[in-house]
This record gives sequence, structure tokens and C-alpha cells, in this order.
Amino acid sequence: MLVVRTIAEARQACARFRAAGKSLGLVPTMGALHAGHLSLVRAAKESCDAVAVSIFVNPTQFGPKEDFSSYPRVFEQDCQTLQAAGVDVVFAPSVEEMYPPGASTFVEVEGLSDRLDGASRPGHFRGVATVVAKLFHIFAPDVAFFGQKDAAQVAVLRRMVRDLRFAVELKVCPTMREPDGLAMSSRNRNLSEGERRQALVLYRALSAVEKRFQGGEVDSGKLIGEAQRILKEEPGVQVEYFRVVDPETLEDVADVSPGSLVAVAARVGATRLIDNLLL
Ligand code: PAJ
Repeated sequence: MLVVRTIAEARQACARFRAAGKSLGLVPTMGALHAGHLSLVRAAKESCDAVAVSIFVNPTQFGPKEDFSSYPRVFEQDCQTLQAAGVDVVFAPSVEEMYPPGASTFVEVEGLSDRLDGASRPGHFRGVATVVAKLFHIFAPDVAFFGQKDAAQVAVLRRMVRDLRFAVELKVCPTMREPDGLAMSSRNRNLSEGERRQALVLYRALSAVEKRFQGGEVDSGKLIGEAQRILKEEPGVQVEYFRVVDPETLEDVADVSPGSLVAVAARVGATRLIDNLLL
């Protein structure tokens, strides 16, 4: 497995794959890898000849009061995991490599980037779209892999790929969960035992909505009301949003239908968690 730090080296590795006629899959990450990330790597291995993983804690997608500096960084451990998973290239650039001093060019997906997490994290999706556009530009992958766990991110990136005419196919992989239902997340490492138990209420609320929907309830107000009752069971969990939206436009839906996205964000102690289900 090749580990590269510069864009020039990453481009050279891609050129070698291309010269050998290999298709390339890209898995963008911020590291602190868990089984969710590895499911993307597995999907990439299955459908592409060569697999590149980027590990970059992207400063532009964190707000000034957010956890950029405390975001978990376990690079050596991540490299061992990726080597065992059969990854070909790991790209781990410095901030200066990705953002030359004075960088002032950003990708803004208007309309979408201020919905769901974008509403409470101004500038977050601008940072995500910008860094992913840079990664697409550097790697020119045939396929890029993202997790359904970050449903709003998927909507923003799909729109960006369409609008900027990137020649990349996006593949979205299902959310990997712990046996008790908690969605895997790098930030779960920051939860105390008690907080981790409280955090389970998010999946309980999502699952209750799914069950009521399967039982025939399509009124989003009633479904959200049911979720709010369950979320109140854990007063330590500060809900930021619980919504039922169209997964492409991220706009609220009144009448829920198959394919609607139920999404939640909440703070458990100091840790912000998100989760969702596609009905
Ligand atoms: P990060 O949070 O490290 O996640 C990297 C990828 O793993 C994302 O596509 C995310 O949706 C996916 N992922 C995370 N948890 C998952 C789970 N439990 N099951 C399945 N997939 C999961 O998302 C980012 O990094 C960044 O915003 C990034 C796209 C790398 C841009 O900086």
C-alpha cells in the first residue's frame, strides 16, 4: 500500500493505474476509521480494480466553535486497517497541500447546503463540497463511495456532481450500525458509557417512525410527534432537528411516501450525532 502526502504523488499513482487500464475507486474519509468506513472500502474493492482512500480532517467543514482540533486522529492505526483491507493508495495531505495560503475558491451548492445539518452548521457543506471537488479533481476516480449515514452530504454531493458535470459515479452504501442499533461514527469514541446508552434513543425514534409508517401512517406531523415523545425519554439528549424530508431536495414532506428520508441530529453531552433511515 502506497501512502502519499502530496497531490503530485497522488496524481502519479492515478496515472499508473490508468496506464495499466485499471478502474479507480475513491473513498474520501476524515480517518478514525470504523466498520462503516470499511464497508465503503469493501464496496470499492468489489467494483473497482484499484482503490484510493483519502484521510484528511478538512478544516473548512468545521465551524469556529466545532471539534476540528479535538477530532480523533489515529493515522498509524488507520493505515494498518487500510493495508489489511487491501487498499492501494492512502492520500493524507497537510492542510497547506489542500488549501494553499490565501485559498479563496469554494464550491457552494446553493439551496441544499443550508438545509438539515447545513442550517445548524453554516458553511459546513460548502467545506464538504469544496474538499470533495478537490479530491475528484486530483484523483478523477471512476466511482466514489459515500455513506447513507450522512444523507444530506449525499444530496449535496449528488447535486454538485450533476451541476459541475464531474465524470464520476457516486455509490452510496448503507449505514453500518453497532449490534444495538447505534450508527457507527468516528465521534462515538467521544461518548462516555452513559452517553452512549442515551444515544440509542436516536435509533429508537427513527425505528418507531419506520414502524408507524409501515403500519400505514403517512402524516409527517404525527410521525414526528411520535418520535419527539420517544426522544423526550432521554432529557440529556438535545435534539437539533428531527425531520422527514425528500432525500434529493432535503425539503420537508407533509405526506410521507416510500423513499422519504427521516433524519435526526442531536447533541449527547458535548458530542453531536446524526442518524437517518430511508423509508
Ligand atoms: P467521515 O465522517 O470520515 O466519513 C467518511 C465516509 O464514511 C462518508 O461517506 C460517511 O458517510 C461514511 N460513513 C460514516 N459512518 C458510516 C456508517 N456508520 N456506515 C456507513 N458509512 C459511514 O463524511 C466525511 O468524513 C467527510 O465529510 C468527507 C466526505 C470525507 C469530506 O471531508
